[in-house]
Amino acid sequence: MGTHAIITLEQFIIEKEKNNPQATGSLSQIIRDLVLATRIINREVNKAGLVDIIGAIGGTNIQGEEVQKLDVYAERQIIDALKRGGETFAVGSEESDDMLILNPEGKYVVMIDPLDGSSNIDVNVSIGTIFSVYHRKSEDGAELHESDYLQKGREQVAAGYFLYGTSTMLVYTTGHGVNGFTLDPSIGEFLLSHRDITYPAKCNIYSINEGNYRKLFEGVKQYLRFIKTSNEVKKPYTLRYVGSLVADFHRNLLKGGIYLYPGTTDKPQGKLRLMYEGNPMAMLAEQAGGMATNGYTDVLDTDPVELHQRTPLFLGSKDEVTMIQEFIKVYDQISNLVLNGRK
Ligand code: AHG
Ligand code: MN
Ligand code: MN
Repeated sequence: MGTHAIITLEQFIIEKEKNNPQATGSLSQIIRDLVLATRIINREVNKAGLVDIIGAIGGTNIQGEEVQKLDVYAERQIIDALKRGGETFAVGSEESDDMLILNPEGKYVVMIDPLDGSSNIDVNVSIGTIFSVYHRKSEDGAELHESDYLQKGREQVAAGYFLYGTSTMLVYTTGHGVNGFTLDPSIGEFLLSHRDITYPAKCNIYSINEGNYRKLFEGVKQYLRFIKTSNEVKKPYTLRYVGSLVADFHRNLLKGGIYLYPGTTDKPQGKLRLMYEGNPMAMLAEQAGGMATNGYTDVLDTDPVELHQRTPLFLGSKDEVTMIQEFIKVYDQISNLVLNGRK
């Protein structure tokens, strides 16, 4: 019986730095900051079910301390850790209207969704934290400039997520593949558990809030109809959707599936945020051999115009995402023909 060497996240980071002579260690510091923060968040997440008996959210607990909403608490932990780490110039967060300056000399800009899937906290379903890292564009010591935070996803130098599930995981990429680490609570360390993750060749799962069906555009409707009813699909797909992007993405990455959050007739840009959800997941998908589109172009090529902008999102293996793009294109053409015919 063979034994596998245990590799801690720390050893993994050092090993990678050795292989990359340009590495200054400052990006690694950011990963360490995030790990520290999320270990504290994880502790609170695990106690989330006790909130009702130790104090209501937003009220005070029995020690008379303020109990914060978990997503605000998570944001605070991450911001504090990134500030202490010293390498982060500014941070953008789903929970804050504006960018926050942390270290005037920092070389990186970090984007966070501090707690993803927050509607699942109360019902004990997996949630996550998503992060994405960019090089700062402005000079050291200069003021924050739009070019620092309105960068294309293509410019990301790292992206990943923490998943607070049946176990706690970190999955991240620095642009050289995707690796997954699982927290061993007995020693408090993240251990390399999933090396070089790639999408399985076959896509068997689809994940979408299908309750929105009547609000979807025709191309997506027809794609769904195709995978559910066409004889060309030999083995029926499985539908899996919990409503936490991190959890749904993670399952599909390991098992082979597509995640869809399309635009709807009332919200053509969909629900998910480009900077905190779309771009980091898109980088992971690409690095795992898959693809991410907004239905028309690669998510990573979107030129952002606003910090909190939304994007339709389709993530999965290349073949599957290409297929849905084709459906969208064809049905756009048909509806254009119909519209022109009416004129
Ligand atoms: P957040 O908790 O950060 O606001 O994100 C929730 C997002 C995402 O995690 C999930 O996939 C999606 O909202 C679920 O939306 P629906 O309830 O519309 O399906
Ligand atoms: Mn989210
Ligand atoms: Mn969130």
